[in-house]
Formats: sequence, structure tokens, C-alpha cells
Amino acid sequence: MRKRLTQRISAALAALVLVFVGWTWWQSLVPSTYSAMEMGYADFGGGEEFGHEDGAELANAARGAATSEPRPVRDVSELTGGVKGEPDVSVELTARQETATLADGTTYDGYTVNGSTPGPTINATVGDLVEVRFRNDNVDDGTTLHWHGLDVPNGMDGVAGVTQDAVAPGEDFVYRFLADEVGSYWYHSHQVSNEQVQRGLFGAIVVHPDRRSLQRAELGVQDVTALVHTYAGVRTVNGVAGDWRPDVTAPVGSKVRVRVVNTDSQRLSVWVPGRPFRVLATDGHDVNAPEEVEDVAVVLGAGARADLEVVVPEGGARVEMGSVSVLLGEGEPPAGDQPEERIDLLSYGEASQEDAQLRRAAESNSFDREFDYDIGRRPGFLDGKPGVWWSINGGLFPDVPMFMVQEGDLVRMTVRNRSGEDHPMHLHGHRLTVLARDGKPVTGSSWQVDSLDVDNGETYEVAFVADNPGVWMFHCHNLPHAKDGMVAHLMYEGVSTDFVVGGTRDNRPE
Ligand code: C2O
Ligand code: CU
Repeated sequence: MRKRLTQRISAALAALVLVFVGWTWWQSLVPSTYSAMEMGYADFGGGEEFGHEDGAELANAARGAATSEPRPVRDVSELTGGVKGEPDVSVELTARQETATLADGTTYDGYTVNGSTPGPTINATVGDLVEVRFRNDNVDDGTTLHWHGLDVPNGMDGVAGVTQDAVAPGEDFVYRFLADEVGSYWYHSHQVSNEQVQRGLFGAIVVHPDRRSLQRAELGVQDVTALVHTYAGVRTVNGVAGDWRPDVTAPVGSKVRVRVVNTDSQRLSVWVPGRPFRVLATDGHDVNAPEEVEDVAVVLGAGARADLEVVVPEGGARVEMGSVSVLLGEGEPPAGDQPEERIDLLSYGEASQEDAQLRRAAESNSFDREFDYDIGRRPGFLDGKPGVWWSINGGLFPDVPMFMVQEGDLVRMTVRNRSGEDHPMHLHGHRLTVLARDGKPVTGSSWQVDSLDVDNGETYEVAFVADNPGVWMFHCHNLPHAKDGMVAHLMYEGVSTDFVVGGTRDNRPE
């Protein structure tokens, strides 16, 4: 009797668990076509809520339906910056799926831009109007270009399914934007980006402070761009495995600027064996009064850049990145072990008045919105697949926050990583100012990033001004992680997008 009762109870429990698991599974399914605007749930970061009185979907929130003064809704395709006139820099870029010959002569089956991978470096001077006619020759899945680190207008951001449709074979798309921030950036596909970036569809874009700097770069005088990328398991600099000697004028005693771009999904350490150097810029932002350092490594998360200044000694210098190097000057200086110490950008350089607005807001605790971006890992279903997946604020994609902002907001975000692995977090369209790490405030130069490598166990406090309306991705730049759902968005009031992920154009941003 008693035994039968127990049996019935366990049967009922088992059924309940099954129903629960089934429901969780069903809930996790991502429709084959959906709008980024309907993803997850609105998170207003404690600030003014708009347009969601009846708990209506995000779309309504963004439309500002319930605000006192409803703003006219603009579609992302209208957010083009409206820059008219003749471009100062005009480039044609053609994407192709083909067997590429890398600079070191090896062949690689992947993607090219104008016949090579990396694609050509675009050089511009600050303030230039840049126009890129992008053509997809034969990339079957379609493709786009995203301007990583450049805060272009949303309609030029190049995210398939969010800011545009993937460009189909035979079609083209014209990107136009003002290059209004000096620095080292890169461009890459944001359609099936996990595969297309990994297999070569990217290049560099450098914005110079003046004509002279641009001319020197074009003539190869003391200015080197080093895109580090791993093709089929082999790490290269600009397509050269091992040592790469750039064709650059760098006499003994001259200062060379080496722009290192980490285009991989893994971290990259950079060091200069036996020589002092400076870090002039991180993620395209100049460090204020960078001091000389020696025997330390600069660690770059995926997507990040660092500009190093090396003074060329007799016998040359080596900028080393583990198995690959850039050789400057004559001679072949020996490789050296990776230094144990790494530069801490929290205290590098000298404090300046930059970001005064954000720092004041931090001091007086007067942000308009404060968000959490908590990265974890937990078992569950991701689009119906069981596994242990990355979570954002406890939820698995697409059950993630939509960070809602209004133009002009001062925003603080706390990024916490308790997932067991590091994550290079990349926000589109905005520059993040680092305020503190693990409660320790920045004491050196203003530290600005678009790609923030957050180690397991770390907590970063960052801030930004919401000054670029649109729908913007905020995702992990370890692209396989993004593909596995480490993606959220920042959405402005009064902006909507008619583009969809999936759909007839088969948009697949990750
Ligand atoms: Cu470098 Cu969303 O990308
Ligand atoms: Cu990640």
C-alpha cells in the first residue's frame, strides 16, 4: 500500500519534471525569423521607463508610445549621418570566397577582400568623409562590413539583420561615414561572422590625426599596421607565419608606431624582448603621457588594438606576439620569453581631464541609468539544444536584457564575469570609459575601449554617453561564444529596425 503510494508520487514528480524540462526546451526555441527588437526583455537600468506601460513588447517601448512627447520613430536605415558631398576617401572593396594566397605564399581556402586576406588597409585623416563601395562577388551566404571601433551612424554599422540586409552575391552596399575619431580600427564581416571573420574577411582602417601622418603611413615611414590572425591553426602577422619584416623606413634611432590588431577570437600577448617601449593608444584612443616600460606584456582581448612605439636600436627590434613577430630595422634580434608581468591600463599613463563628465557622474553617483551585464554559465537549452551555455543576467539567449536608453543619457554598466572563462566584450557604436576594476578606480590615463577583455572573476565598471541613436550590439568578440548566444543589444528610444534575423535574406549576424 505504502509502496504504491510512493510509486505514484514519484511517477507524478517525474511527469512534472518532464513537463518542466519540455516547457524550458520549448521556451528556448528561437524562431527562424525574428526582430532584434523583440529579443529578451526591456531593462531600463533604473532610469525613466518609456513606452511600455502595459508591459507591451520592446518594439513599443522603442517607439516611445507612452512618453509625454512621443518622438517620431526613425528606422535604422534612416540613421545614415546624412553626410552629403564628395568623399575625401573613396574605396572599392570586393568580397570573394576563394582560395587565397597569403603573404607568406601558403594558400588558404576562405574569403578575401580585393583578392587578399587581410584586405587592404584604408587610411583616412580625421574629419574625412569615407565612402566604401562594398561588393559581394560570390559569397554565397551573403556578407557585410562592420567598422569595428568606429562609432559610425547606426545605418552604417553593417550588422546583418539589425542594421541592414546581408549583401547577396552580385549586389553591393555603399558605406559612408565621417572618420571623426583618430586611431587604429578594423573592418570585418558581420554576417555569419564567426565563420567569415575567422576565414579572412577583414582588414584595417586607420584614422590619422593629420595629412602628414597619413602620408607617412602610405609611404611606409615609421608606421606599421600588424593584423594578427590565425589561419587554419597557424598564427600570422598580415598573412606571414613566423617573422614578418615590413617594408618600412625605420632608421636607427627613429620611433616606429606599430598598430597591433587582434583579429582572432583568442587573447593575444605582445611584448618587445629586451627593449623599452610605450603604449601610445588602446582601441584607437590615445593614452595620455604614456611612460616607457620594459619587460612587460600588453594583453589584447579579441578585437582589441594597441599602438606601440618602439625606438629602433642598432641591430633592430622585435615586436613579439608568441610564434609571430614584427621585425624593425636591420638585423635579427633574438626572440624572448613572454614577460610574466603585464601592463595594467588601470594605472598606465597620467590622468587627464578627458571624460570629465563621466567621472563626475561616477563621483556624484548621478548616472541616468545603471545596467548590469552579468556573464555566467549554466545548464539549459539554447535554441532547443541541451548543454552548458553562457548566460547574461541569469538568462540564456534569447532571454537576455535589452538595454534601453534615451539620447543623452549618462550610462554606467557593471560587467561581471563568473563564467569560468574570459570574455572580450564589444559594444558597437560607443566608446566605453573604464571607471574601475574590482572596485579599484582608474588612476592613470583615461582608459577607453570598444573591446574590453573581462577575465573570469573580474568586475569592470564602465560608462558611456548615449550619443549615437540606434540598435547596437553588445556581444562577446570570441565569435564562437557570440554564436552560442553571448549577444545582447542596446536600444534607443525612438528608433526601430525593420530588418530581421533570418527572413528571406537569411541574415545571420553571428
Ligand atoms: Cu567586431 Cu560585433 O563586432
Ligand atoms: Cu565570450
